[in-house]
Amino acid sequence: MTRAAVIAGVGGHVPQRVVTNDELAQRLDTSDAWIRTRTGISRRHVVDAGTTTSDLAVGAGLRALKSAGTDGADLVIVATTTPDRPCPATAPAVATRLGLTDVPAYDVAAVCSGFLYALQAGAASVTSGVAERVLVVGAEAFSTILNPEDRTTSVIFGDGAGAILLRAGTREEPGAVLDMHLGSDGSMADLITVRGGGAEERSRGGEPRPEDRYFRMDGRAVFFTAVRRMAQSSRTVLARTGWEVTDVDRLVAHQANTRIIHAVAEQLGLPPERAVLNIDRVGNTSAASIPLALADATADGTLAAGHRVLLTAFGGGATWGSATLTWPTLQAG
Ligand code: UT7
Repeated sequence: MTRAAVIAGVGGHVPQRVVTNDELAQRLDTSDAWIRTRTGISRRHVVDAGTTTSDLAVGAGLRALKSAGTDGADLVIVATTTPDRPCPATAPAVATRLGLTDVPAYDVAAVCSGFLYALQAGAASVTSGVAERVLVVGAEAFSTILNPEDRTTSVIFGDGAGAILLRAGTREEPGAVLDMHLGSDGSMADLITVRGGGAEERSRGGEPRPEDRYFRMDGRAVFFTAVRRMAQSSRTVLARTGWEVTDVDRLVAHQANTRIIHAVAEQLGLPPERAVLNIDRVGNTSAASIPLALADATADGTLAAGHRVLLTAFGGGATWGSATLTWPTLQAG
């Protein structure tokens, strides 16, 4: 028996306020038809004033702990692009609010690949014996970094959080994280970026440029790179696990755009109906997107015990990654 990290709980949380495509079309030069056909998104959830990433992370974390039937974890990792503050990290506040006193807690920043980066760190902590139970959270108040006047980003992103609880178990058990592959290419840093707010801006001196406060993305360039990298990374991790593409029961790809997800499935030779989709209801929630899709698909039965699951993501950095796992018997919290 080989020691492995096993998924013991899953939970998602979205803020209450729903913003429809029609609502966006009232203030931006866009339409419900454009957004639906180009992205697959119908609506998204957005935080009210005063609600932050840690609030969403706590909501999802509580549900993942409940789903696992426990109130304990000895490590908390929060993947986010929208930390409550540049300093300190968001994870310690999340751990404390979950009642997890004195446990190590840190953030991971890999934008839309953040959850998979955090999953690798969490799974490695379990397999190495550093931790017995790890709460891995992806959480974003992404609307807080969007330029409300930029139609190319405002229609895509939404707010939310998802979490899983990993426990120590064996590779042979349902729920085991089997294999992972991660990658990055810093030469693509400008494709997806918030220029301001960091050392680059402060060390330059002078007045901050207002436009540098906001998230910017070269959507078209990202589209093609995302498809290529997710397909490549998926093939790599499938080979590591010894699975054929046809062995995959469910593809849970980062919910960037329905067209991107279907293009990845097509490149892999996977029937599109094996792709899990919740992007229509929540939009692109960046680091939260994979765990939120896992929680939603568990709740509605799309994802069931015994399914062989392929996770894949692409995000700013550029970063990308994939994972293989089997799905356990689980109720979303
Ligand atoms: O999550 C992290 C990674 N991010 C992604 O994976 C996102 C990747 N990119 C995408 O999903 C797509 O590229 C977008 C959804 C961002 C854009 O879709 P697209 O099919 O690539 O459109 P485009 O950028 O090629 O633009 C087509 C047209 C342009 O007009 P012209 O130049 O053809 O006249 C845009 O100005 O659509 C226009 N456009 C819009 N029209 C109405 C761009 N945004 C909008 C909009 N409403 N919101």
